[in-house]
This record gives sequence, structure tokens and C-alpha cells, in this order.
Amino acid sequence: MNLSIEAKQLTKCYKGQKDEQFAIKNIDLQIPQGQLFGLIGPDGAGKTTTIRILATVMKPSSGYAKIEGFDVEHKPEGARAMIGYMPQEFSLYPDLSVIENLNFFADLQGVSVTHRKERIEELLAFIRLDRFRERRSEHLSGGMRKKLALACALMHEPRVLLLDEPTTGVDPVSRRELWQIIAEVLLQDVSVVVSTPYMDEAERCHKVGIINKGQILVTGSPIELGELLPYQMMEIIARPRRITREIINSTEGILSWRPVGDRIRMAVNDPDKVEKELLKSLKTAGGNIRVLRRTKPIMDDVFIHLVESSGDKDER
Ligand SMILES: Nc1ncnc2c1ncn2[C@@H]1O[C@H](COP(=O)(O)OP(=O)(O)O)[C@@H](O)[C@H]1O
Ligand SMILES: [Mg+2]
Repeated sequence: MNLSIEAKQLTKCYKGQKDEQFAIKNIDLQIPQGQLFGLIGPDGAGKTTTIRILATVMKPSSGYAKIEGFDVEHKPEGARAMIGYMPQEFSLYPDLSVIENLNFFADLQGVSVTHRKERIEELLAFIRLDRFRERRSEHLSGGMRKKLALACALMHEPRVLLLDEPTTGVDPVSRRELWQIIAEVLLQDVSVVVSTPYMDEAERCHKVGIINKGQILVTGSPIELGELLPYQMMEIIARPRRITREIINSTEGILSWRPVGDRIRMAVNDPDKVEKELLKSLKTAGGNIRVLRRTKPIMDDVFIHLVESSGDKDER
């Protein structure tokens, strides 16, 4: 297989961290051309550390990574020419306008003056910011800034795009737009790594690596990961809440439960049996059930299962 991005046993201990405390440990990645790979995990999981090493910004403590065959530590110039990198923190100049920022990045990336004008127009249309070209980036909305940073990363038509939390903290509309832009980039056979703390964004990726405390717990397509659960999921909306919870706690066959928005999600082995039990107990207690049904696993369920079954002992 022709790998666009490869990492083997990638490990990083920051200065001052003891050996047994690592930011990331033994990360393996195999990402073929044109794949959208999601690196998904909570704050502090090691997403930024991984992406910064892939982006040649930082050296690994051990292990290696290659971008289009270039080792990021030993052939960083080769790797860099292939990479578009959008850091988690803003890389834009707040007092420069949209167009000035793009020009500045074109300079940095050595895009020729003749080609530049056309490329910038193309990108402005692509990120739908033509109308805001004169606006200083400090006056753009969060979503617009992320789009502009993405355009800057795309300036030199990279083969590999590394996006560190491109959708964090942006409104839902911009979030959807950013994913649309990423989908369009993929049509050009670019390989993309995108990190996110939002489990629901896993569904948008071809393949996902779930990362927690510096280690990848599992890699697979969203469907494969959904199939990992050794139990079924159910949800219930019922009143009164306190009684519902008490009943759930005392119903046999409910392995675990947690509130999500207005409902409670439950992990069960035998949905039919649990359904009957809950109907009976809530009726007896005078409760009122609005929703009680089986439901598909979501990424959060998978994450919780993985963390619990990995014996999360807080090693760091
Ligand atoms: N410069 C640094 N020095 C020491 N520890 C760091 C540094 N940067 C990150 N870390 C630690 O490394 C771990 C991973 O951090 P990071 O890669 O930023 O995670 P994420 O991007 O998933 O939030 C965290 O425990 C964090 O505190
Ligand atoms: Mg981060």
C-alpha cells in the first residue's frame, strides 16, 4: 500500500516530563492517499503533540514518522513541501486583512508572483470569503478565521493536510461549512489528518483513531468502531426523573447508564427484557414514559467503552 502518512512507535516526552510520563506513546499511523483520518480524543490526549510532530514542528523522542516517504526528523524540508498545516492556535496576523494574510502566506510558501493572484482568488471563492477580502482578520468571526487559516494552509497545494481542531469553538453553520471544504479538498486526492474533541465528527472520517492519555486505543472506520461494543444501547425519556433513575439503578440487565441531554442512554445485553422490566416498574411507580427504544451506538458510547475496558488508571 502506498502510504501518504506513516508513523511507527511515535513517542514524545516533553522536557521536564519523566520517562514514564509521556505526551504520546507508541503511536502507529498508516494513512493512504486520499484518506480522511480523524484523530479523536479529549483535551490533553496528545492530538496536538502528534500533529506537530507530523508537521515537522517538533521532533519525536523516539519512533519515526514519514510524510510521502520523507522522514519528518531527517528529511524535514522534503516533508514540509508536501504539508499544509493548520495549528490549533491561530496562525493569522490579526492586523492584516484577509487578502494580506493570504499574500503573506503565499510569500512564506514561495508561491510565484505570477501564479499567486489566481491562487488567492481561487481560495477566496473556495472558502466563500470573497466578500470579506478587505476585512482585518481580528474582525472576522471564529468560523471565518478558521476558514482563512485553512486557506492559508492550502496555499501551496499540499498533498497532505494536517488540521488541528479546525472545528473547535466555531458555530454549527461554520462547522458544517468547514467539513464541506475538507470534503472538497479530499476530491483532489489530498490526504487529511484532522483532530477533534467532538466524538460526533468521527462519522465524517474514513478512518478514526481514538486517542486517550497519549495512546491510540483503537483505529477503524466509524462502522467498525460501532461494532466494537459488546452490548446494545437503549434510550429512555421518562418522568419523574428521580424515580426513573432509581428504577434504572435497580433494574437487572442494565450494565451502565448516563444522562445525555433530555434522555438517559443505557448499555444493556437484552433490550427486550430491559424494555419489559422498565415498562412494568415505571407503570407501577406511576411514571410516564415518553420514549423507550433501542438506539444505534454513537462514538461517545464507543469512547466510554474503550476507556473503561482499557483500565483507565490515570497513568500520567
Ligand atoms: N510544551 C509542553 N510541555 C510539557 N507538557 C506538555 C507540553 N505540551 C503538551 N504537554 C502535555 O502533553 C499532553 C498532551 O498534550 P496535547 O498534545 O496538547 O493534547 P491535545 O492536543 O489532545 O489536547 C498533555 O498532558 C499536556 O499537558
Ligand atoms: Mg490540542
